[in-house]
Amino acid sequence: MEQTEIIQEIKRLCVEHNALLLAHNYQRDEVQEIADITGDSLALSIEAARAAKDVIVFCGVHFMAESAAILAPDKTVLLPRTDAGCPMADMVTPAGLRALKAEHPGATVVTYVNSSAAVKAESDICCTSSNAINVVKSLAADELILVPDRNLGRYIASFTDKTCYFWEGYCPTHDRLKVADIERTRADHPDALFMAHPECTPEVLALADHICSTSGMYAYAAKSAARKFIVGTEMGILYRLRKDNPDKEFILPSTSLICPNMKLTSLEDILQCLQTMSPVVTVPEETRERAKLTLDRMLAVPRD
Ligand code: 13P
Ligand code: SF4
Repeated sequence: MEQTEIIQEIKRLCVEHNALLLAHNYQRDEVQEIADITGDSLALSIEAARAAKDVIVFCGVHFMAESAAILAPDKTVLLPRTDAGCPMADMVTPAGLRALKAEHPGATVVTYVNSSAAVKAESDICCTSSNAINVVKSLAADELILVPDRNLGRYIASFTDKTCYFWEGYCPTHDRLKVADIERTRADHPDALFMAHPECTPEVLALADHICSTSGMYAYAAKSAARKFIVGTEMGILYRLRKDNPDKEFILPSTSLICPNMKLTSLEDILQCLQTMSPVVTVPEETRERAKLTLDRMLAVPRD
C-alpha cells in the first residue's frame, strides 16, 4: 500500500471506530503529522480522559497508554506496538518501592508518570516534567520519596527544603547527553539558547537557559526573541519545533538523542491496530483504582 493510501485508511477507520489518535512529541514525523493531538505526557493523558471518543490510539510508550486506560476505563485504549516500553519506567518495581517506603514511613511518594500502573498504585501522587515543581510545592509532608528518575528527582529537590530520597533510575536517552556535547555546540553557536528536559543529568541542567517538559519547549521557542536553540531532549521534538518556527534554528547537540522505543510505531502499525482493534492496554481494576487516585491528585494541583 502507498503511504497516502495508508493515511486515508487510518483516517477512515478512526471515523468508523470513533477513535482519537494521540501522538507523543517524540513520535516519528509522519505519525505526528496524522495525529489528532500531539503533546507531552500530561497533555495527552488529559485529552485521553476528556475526549468524547470510544477508542484511544496511543502512539507513544506503554506507560502513557496505561495512564489513558487508568483515567478513561470506559474507552478502549490501543497501543500500536506492545514492545514500545520505557526503560526508565522498568527500573522501579512495586516491591522495590515498598522496600524504600518501609525505610521512610513518613515520606510522601511522588512518582513520575514514567512508571507502571502497579508502581503508581504504591504511590501517593504522580507528577510529570511539566508540573513536578507545583506538585511538590502542594505537599505538606516534610519528607519525599521521588521515583523513578534520579535526574528529575534532584531537579525537583532543588526547589524544596523537604528531605528527599531518590530512586536511582534514569532515562538512557537523556542520560547520554554530556556536558562536552553542550560545550561543543555552544562554541559553534554562541548565540543559541539551551533548553533542556529535566531528565538530563544535573551537570547538563546546570548549563541550561531553560528547563521544561517537551511541550514547554514549544512554548519557550515560540515566545523567545532568540533565533537559535540547542535542544536537550529526544530528536522527535524537532519536527514540530521547525514546522511551527520556520524563522528559527533548532540544533541537536548529540546524534544519540534518540529513544528507540518512541521510534517503533509506524503508520503500518497504526493501520493494523485499527484494523484488528488490538493490542488493547488494560489495567487490573484494583490496581487501576489505586493508580487513578495518584493521577487524580496530580490533576487537582493548580497548573501555571
Ligand atoms: P514529557 O512529559 O515532557 O513529554 O516527557 C515524557 C518523556 O518520556 C520524556 O522522556
Ligand atoms: Fe522513557 Fe527516555 Fe524514551 Fe522518555 S525518552 S520514553 S523516559 S526511555
